[in-house]
Amino acid sequence: MIELATIPELREWVRAARARGLRIGLVPTMGALHEGHLALVDAAHAGSDAVVMSIFVNPTQFGPHEDLSRYPRDLARDRTLVAARAVDVLFVPSVETMYPAGAEVRVMPGRVATRWEGEFRPGHFAGVLTIVAKLFHLVAPDKAWFGQKDFQQATLIRQMVRDLDFPVDIEVVRTVRERGGLALSSRNAFLSPADREQALGLSRALAAAAAAFASGERGAAALERIMRGGLAVHPGVEVEYIAVADQRTLEPVSSADEDTVVLIAARVGLTRLIDNVILSEGL
Ligand code: PAJ
Repeated sequence: MIELATIPELREWVRAARARGLRIGLVPTMGALHEGHLALVDAAHAGSDAVVMSIFVNPTQFGPHEDLSRYPRDLARDRTLVAARAVDVLFVPSVETMYPAGAEVRVMPGRVATRWEGEFRPGHFAGVLTIVAKLFHLVAPDKAWFGQKDFQQATLIRQMVRDLDFPVDIEVVRTVRERGGLALSSRNAFLSPADREQALGLSRALAAAAAAFASGERGAAALERIMRGGLAVHPGVEVEYIAVADQRTLEPVSSADEDTVVLIAARVGLTRLIDNVILSEGL
């Protein structure tokens, strides 16, 4: 594995890889890697010839009162994990490399960004799309892999690629979970053992909604009621939103069908968690 930190080095590697006819796969991350990130790497290996992973804790996607300064960072451990998964290039730029003084242009997301996460994290998706657009320009990947865990993010990236004609295919990988159902997340590191028990409420509520859907329930209000009922036994879960929405537009629906996704965001202690399920697929 080679590790690069500057744009000229990265561009030179990309030029040489393209000259050899390699199909480049990109897995963008913010590090503090777990098996969810590594599942993206495995998928990228299956769908490309050379896998580039970026690790960059992107300041523009954090709000002023969010956890940028305490976001978990462990580059030494991350290096070991990705080397074991045969990542070809690890790109670890500095903040100054990605945002030199005076960098102020941003990618403005579509309307989908105003709902759900966008409502609770204003400006978040402009930051995400800006850094992902930059990485697409720098790495020029044929394909890029994202996780279903961040459903709205993946939706907005697909839309950016379509609306701005990026020549890259977007692949979305199913959410990797712990045995109890908790979706893997770098932020799980902040959960105390008691928080962890409470956090199981999210995936349990989503599983209950999917089970109700499988047994014929279609009413969005009823599905939400089932979820809130289940969450009553997890008093440590402070729900920010539950969305029963169309998986393409993320507009709320009143009646669920095969295309419906259920999204949840909640605080557990000081940690903000998100999760989702496509009702027809289950967890
Ligand atoms: P990060 O939270 O590090 O996640 C990197 C990628 O891993 C994202 O595509 C995310 O959806 C995926 N991922 C996270 N947890 C997962 C899980 N349990 N199962 C499967 N995939 C999972 O998302 C970001 O970073 C940033 O916003 C980024 C896209 C890198 C832009 O800065």
